Amino acid sequence: MNPLALDLNEQLSKSNPEIADMLSDLGKLMYYPKGILSQSAEAKATKYNATIGMATYSNKKMYADTLNNVFGELEPDEIFPYSPPQGIEPLRDLWQEKMLKENPDLNKTDMTRPIITNALTHGLSLVGDMFVNSGDTILLPTHNWGNYKLVYSTRHSAVFETYDIFDENGNYTTDALVNTLANYNKDKVVLILNYPNNPTGYTPTKDQVNQIVTAIKDLAERGTNVIALVDDAYYGLFYEDVYTQSLFTALTNLQLKNLLPIRLDGATKEFFAWGLRVGFITFGVNDETAKSVLEAKVKGMIRSNISSGPMPSQNAVKYVLEHNETFDQEIQHNIDTLQARYEVTKDVVYDEKYKPYWQPYEFNSGYFMAVQVKGVDPETLRTHLIENYSIGIIALNKTDIRIAFSCVEKEDIPHVFDSIAKAIAELQN
Ligand SMILES: Cc1ncc(COP(=O)(O)O)c(C=O)c1O
Repeated sequence: MNPLALDLNEQLSKSNPEIADMLSDLGKLMYYPKGILSQSAEAKATKYNATIGMATYSNKKMYADTLNNVFGELEPDEIFPYSPPQGIEPLRDLWQEKMLKENPDLNKTDMTRPIITNALTHGLSLVGDMFVNSGDTILLPTHNWGNYKLVYSTRHSAVFETYDIFDENGNYTTDALVNTLANYNKDKVVLILNYPNNPTGYTPTKDQVNQIVTAIKDLAERGTNVIALVDDAYYGLFYEDVYTQSLFTALTNLQLKNLLPIRLDGATKEFFAWGLRVGFITFGVNDETAKSVLEAKVKGMIRSNISSGPMPSQNAVKYVLEHNETFDQEIQHNIDTLQARYEVTKDVVYDEKYKPYWQPYEFNSGYFMAVQVKGVDPETLRTHLIENYSIGIIALNKTDIRIAFSCVEKEDIPHVFDSIAKAIAELQN
């Protein structure tokens, strides 16, 4: 059991032993992680808060005006009634059209219509309910989003196995994944594939995608049942020549019976609409029976947890997909803003003068980048930066920190990294 859960249980046993006894097994296992959210809360008052998974200007969130103005446009019937558990049908179709447009290699017949979720975390949890048993293996990169642990390990008692996606020089590599899959000998695996990656901001190139897909194909052909969960939270935020279709497309096109590609994506990051809670779950299958059974089961899962998603948010996303001329330009403007910040970040972090302080992990997309710091403890550095430099960063583990360039103005980026270098130098001495 996680030490934080143990501590909560102990506190409750002392104050209210009866309630402690009433907790289910899951209730006993649950805790609130000391992860990104609590580190973000501690950085709230900093001048440069590079902790959060949103995109901001120095004085406001980065959003699209069309989406901000949409709520005045909706009819009462688009706000107040219940949505069906699977979400409103026109939005499902519009999102499917969007997917097909952005993924020219994907065939409409090889996928289910996207089912609407209460954003991506809900989709992750639905996948857990549908496919993950106690003891199942979840295979994912060492650099991964912390919440997967709560969703799959705490809620479903899955076992996590990780592989590195960077070599000792910080360059992306598929070697460890390929080796891990080549040596995998159980009959079932859940792969989490998240690119652009949180926390490192890396998306594979076309060649690297081919290596990943071939390794997965070989494993499935050897007989392992492979559930390939493609977490496309940051889809579309690409700043270099990378594979810009979803890995879901490449995997779906393999057409293997024992490989089930599942795509999770949504408005959260793609439309700069974190609080709307609109996401989608799509299965890469072409058999009509499988399609309708999977849809019925997901509908039952939704009916039995949130019952149905929020109607105003779904209609807001539907509206911008239907009135997309200005909206698309607004989103592109935001992506361009992030791209400009990415470029400055890249210039700064690879500067020779910072070599004594950190080694960057290769990055080319998304909101974040991460560096391995030299000779300091990331947690000590994090608090030192808040207290002395009014800078918020995330301490990821014993060696790495994450910086959200999505939350730092382009002009401020050199100052932020220079301050991080100064702070490291101070702590090294
Ligand atoms: C990799 C990744 N997946 C999923 C999510 C969750 O997205 P949502 O807010 O839509 O639940 C996040 C959010 O930070 C994320 O970084």
